[in-house]
Amino acid sequence: MPTSSLQQCSSASAGYHQATIVAHEQIAEATWRLRVDCPPLAASARPGQFAMVRIPNRHDPLLARPLAVYDVFGDLTEPTCWLPPTPAAAPASPNALRYADFIYAVAGKFTTATTTLRPGDTLTLWGPLGNGFSLPTVDHLVLVAGGIGQTAVLMLGRHLRLTAPATRVTFCWGARHGELFGHVEDFRAAGLDVQLATLDGSAGTQGTVVDLLDQLEAEGSITGSATTALACCGPERMMAAVSRWAGQRQFPCQVSLETPMACGIGICFSCVAPVIDAEGNWDYRRTCVEGPVFEGSTIDWEAME
Ligand SMILES: Cc1cc2nc3c(=O)[nH]c(=O)nc-3n(C[C@H](O)[C@H](O)[C@H](O)COP(=O)(O)OP(=O)(O)OC[C@H]3O[C@@H](n4cnc5c(N)ncnc54)[C@H](O)[C@@H]3O)c2cc1C
Ligand code: FES
Repeated sequence: MPTSSLQQCSSASAGYHQATIVAHEQIAEATWRLRVDCPPLAASARPGQFAMVRIPNRHDPLLARPLAVYDVFGDLTEPTCWLPPTPAAAPASPNALRYADFIYAVAGKFTTATTTLRPGDTLTLWGPLGNGFSLPTVDHLVLVAGGIGQTAVLMLGRHLRLTAPATRVTFCWGARHGELFGHVEDFRAAGLDVQLATLDGSAGTQGTVVDLLDQLEAEGSITGSATTALACCGPERMMAAVSRWAGQRQFPCQVSLETPMACGIGICFSCVAPVIDAEGNWDYRRTCVEGPVFEGSTIDWEAME
């Protein structure tokens, strides 16, 4: 199957950056959005890539943490930009990409400390890193996210809508309850068909995101008569279930793994995942340099648990 205009990315353009925070706010329950002024990262990040992020001059936590590049902007007045126009921060050239956004869920040391940062503070970034998504050309791309996995797929959906307007892009987002959805408008503004699922039924379909996929299939919104592919990011058990669901229908499915990482550049082997090759043999692959995006069918999900 031919691949889309979205090329597999390498980390060749990765760099070390001190970036100034220009905006930072809570957007949902325990979920924050952060914007940094970092033209080299904004200009080179591709859908599905990430950066290793540290708070400078702090030794606890010592190690940087991986965060997906959620979105990039050239101009704070762009319609999809969540900030009001700020003339002082406007770039010299409105076409040059300058700002990169991260969205993070408060999980532990790094993310808790990050909530205290203010505009004007700096972050140390190493990126963009990882391979990013590389999907076949299809009629229908279904993005599936749970946990904080939506951060890996917004740019992918928008890229497809801009470069292949005939491609339908559906975004299926699952959460425990509706208060966890932040900035869902970003996905609608990118031209995606947004479908929500919550375990408690407080927003969208009641059930898991796999229940939502079943429902869309029953309604005829996902159909085997169109070429369909899935791209997925979220908790491992969810990705395993989505990958299985896609495999049963012979839909290609790429998953972006969120394995813990220490170095982010292939040296420490702390991020390995069991990956099965074409001969059926498995070996560990480093998520930071050989991923984070893998074909879902190649992951040994049982060994991941
Ligand atoms: C490629 C990639 C992209 C990512 N993008 C994002 C993003 O955009 N936004 C975001 O919020 N997070 C993202 N993550 C996850 C994030 O890096 C981790 O949650 C990170 O550990 C948070 O740092 P912390 O110091 O706050 O929490 P820590 O103190 O490191 O961990 C807090 C708790 O979470 C557990 N934990 C840590 N990592 C994982 C994991 N991967 N799976 C399950 N449990 C874990 C720990 O065991 C601990 O109990 C990404 C991870 C990867 C690999
Ligand atoms: S995080 Fe060090 S090898 Fe991947």
